[in-house]
Amino acid sequence: MNDPVIFLLGATGYVGSQFLVFLGQTLSNLSVRALVRSPTKDRETWLQQTHPNLIIIEGSLDDTELIEEQARKADIVINIASCDHISCSILSGLSKRSMDNPKEPPTLLHISGTGILSDNARGEPLVTPKVYSDLDLDLDSLPAENPHLQIDIPIVKAGISKEHHVRTAILFPGFIYGLVIGIYVIEGIQKKPTWARLLLHFAKNTGHVGMWGRGLNTMSIIHVKDVATAIMTVLKALLDDRADVGSEGLYFVGCNEIRPSWLDITSATGDYLYSKGVVSQAGTRPYSDDFIQSFTAGNLSRGVYSDGWHTFGANNWVESDRLTKFGWQPVETRKNNFFDTLKASLEIALQD
Ligand SMILES: NC(=O)c1ccc[n+]([C@@H]2O[C@H](COP(=O)([O-])OP(=O)(O)OC[C@H]3O[C@@H](n4cnc5c(N)ncnc54)[C@H](OP(=O)(O)O)[C@@H]3O)[C@@H](O)[C@H]2O)c1
Repeated sequence: MNDPVIFLLGATGYVGSQFLVFLGQTLSNLSVRALVRSPTKDRETWLQQTHPNLIIIEGSLDDTELIEEQARKADIVINIASCDHISCSILSGLSKRSMDNPKEPPTLLHISGTGILSDNARGEPLVTPKVYSDLDLDLDSLPAENPHLQIDIPIVKAGISKEHHVRTAILFPGFIYGLVIGIYVIEGIQKKPTWARLLLHFAKNTGHVGMWGRGLNTMSIIHVKDVATAIMTVLKALLDDRADVGSEGLYFVGCNEIRPSWLDITSATGDYLYSKGVVSQAGTRPYSDDFIQSFTAGNLSRGVYSDGWHTFGANNWVESDRLTKFGWQPVETRKNNFFDTLKASLEIALQD
């Protein structure tokens, strides 16, 4: 087979841009077609310098025909754009490609999140800690209303279907933090840590930094560089045909060695934003029910968080057993913990 063609969604994102840096460094022979919704000159330059074999496909996640067509032309689709959008057009494109060429089933590498495990604890700590392993993860056993499952379950179904077979792998990162390397100097495409963008957005809307309930819930966290190396690890295993796929192609990406609570995270954030004059009170306090009911992050590129309880008020702890099997380790998370990167992350988020 010729070098595979990758259709990449989310190349300009927080996680996607770090992944593209690593992809360009180690697999520059692959052809990358990157979906970009607003390809400014600066973005085009950065994308093409970062991966020498990249072409830009201008379009949005709502362009379902375009997405289906591009997925049909690709050997591998990597979706780091939004885990709650468009998988059906990706899947139908890949399924058509599989129909065209059943001997070489195409591949979908999809990035979801540990929100699938949400225990709806509403800011309370775990009474009986449950650490999920990806070795025996069954998505159908999780509460159906949990985030991302509506997209992830059909992906696994496509991955186990014998008809128009698609190889599927889903990565589930925990809370991602840390600074992306390599692109801070280019104006207009600075990638700000998503958590910092969100907390700042909420703080500006309410006048204070806040948490969901008592904020005693915790989750596995992970540095953005380790998420990018995890995606690379699974991609390389897929290329060598040794990856776990289908019902086994479910990979947690997290580290349990440092597990700050939302109280810790938002207290430190509140103190810092207060010191910068952004909010009028230091520290954190629970957000009001009204805010939690009504808030969305609609003006952020991530889209809408209509249920913050699941995202910010829950516990989810994971062991990355499958990635460990492939030699991956959370190297950067061990070197730079969340609090080491907090100020620099907020400073960048404040530059908007
Ligand atoms: N960050 C976390 O803590 C975390 C944790 C677990 C899972 N995840 C998942 O990881 C994925 C990536 O997250 P992230 O933090 O990297 O998000 P992000 O920084 O907001 O990046 C999102 C990417 O998708 C693109 N995109 C978004 N909406 C689009 C649209 N309508 N049309 C075309 N492109 C669109 C963005 O393009 P623009 O550059 O043009 O905005 C950007 O490239 C998401 O599925 C997220 O749920 C994230």
